[in-house]
Amino acid sequence: MPRPLHPRTQLSKESIFSHMSRLAAQHGAINLGQGFPSNPPPKFLLEAARRAVGTTDQYTPPAGLPKLREAIAEDLGVEAENVVVTAGATEALHALAEALYGAGDQVLMLEPYFDVYIPQAKMAGAEPVLVPMRLRDKWEPDLAVLERTISPSAKALLINSPYNPTGSIFSRTDLEKIVAIARQHDLWIISDEVYDELYFGEPPIKMRELAPERTFTVGSAGKRLEATGWRIGWIVTPPGLAGEIAGMRQWASFCSVSPLQDAVAEALPIARREGFYAELRQSYGKRKDLLESGLKSLGIQTFSPAGTYFLTAKLPNLDAETLVREAKVTIIPGSAFYAQNSAPEGLFRFAFCKKTDEISLAVERLGQYLHVRQ
Ligand SMILES: Cc1ncc(COP(=O)(O)O)c(C=O)c1O
Repeated sequence: MPRPLHPRTQLSKESIFSHMSRLAAQHGAINLGQGFPSNPPPKFLLEAARRAVGTTDQYTPPAGLPKLREAIAEDLGVEAENVVVTAGATEALHALAEALYGAGDQVLMLEPYFDVYIPQAKMAGAEPVLVPMRLRDKWEPDLAVLERTISPSAKALLINSPYNPTGSIFSRTDLEKIVAIARQHDLWIISDEVYDELYFGEPPIKMRELAPERTFTVGSAGKRLEATGWRIGWIVTPPGLAGEIAGMRQWASFCSVSPLQDAVAEALPIARREGFYAELRQSYGKRKDLLESGLKSLGIQTFSPAGTYFLTAKLPNLDAETLVREAKVTIIPGSAFYAQNSAPEGLFRFAFCKKTDEISLAVERLGQYLHVRQ
């Protein structure tokens, strides 16, 4: 047997989302765990991809197909020269981790956190520092604790709004305080906005509009266009930094899949023009209400999301793996989103990007299970 792999491979363990999806398939459970939609992507996206295969097939520049950089810039109201196309938001976050911090540095993030943030910070050699959100009847950031936690080693702050898993959208007041803190301590802001079009009330505020000089915005065509496997995402950089960020990501994947970049470039203006996102919000709003009212009717405490397709709820004394096996319902345990502090007792995350009959059946199965357990 040759020598062992590098100790960094401790980070290689299966993600909770893949694990729970595998268990769901094994036990024939309804999968309200992993956040991928049951809907197919829109026809205009699929047709654009069919046209692009066979015409756009070779390498694109590492910063992305110029046509896609322009389409993203047009959609977001930014300059194309500040846009870098990546292989999904995951690679965007990875490229930023590589470009913004390293050994001896700290990266601040809120807890609960989306699972890629910590391994990516560690792969870059940095230390993730988590600041817990408060949960009473709703989720709130504790900015006083955030500020107290900052040390001279802190280099960046990771924010996610609309927020996975809590569904929170940060208020202008909170974002302005975050910007003031970042300016005072000279921190980069990584603003993960992959759910920017998924909100149920007021649209989220774009962090880059408050702090254009230090904000890197991360976006995802997979999330926006219901094609999570396509792996097309983007970064909007502060002015003048796109070249270096693209230069970093070229060493990982060089460029994203070129015909799919072309298809997304075609689809983004169509989605905007034809009201695709408004339809999606309406459809997800209905599914949110269906899930939330169903859970409430079972006496379960829910924390209504302002955005995303996730809902958190408290089901005390239940275990996610037992639920898959015995209730045939898959949801993600709150502990999956906590690394430093303990998750609130009984916290679970439900994904409602699923068909309405799947959501109804999941609620029915949970009801039966809870009834039998009483
Ligand atoms: C908050 C957040 N950021 C980033 C991602 C990754 O997005 P992508 O599929 O484009 O890599 C996800 C996916 O679930 C997410 O929830």
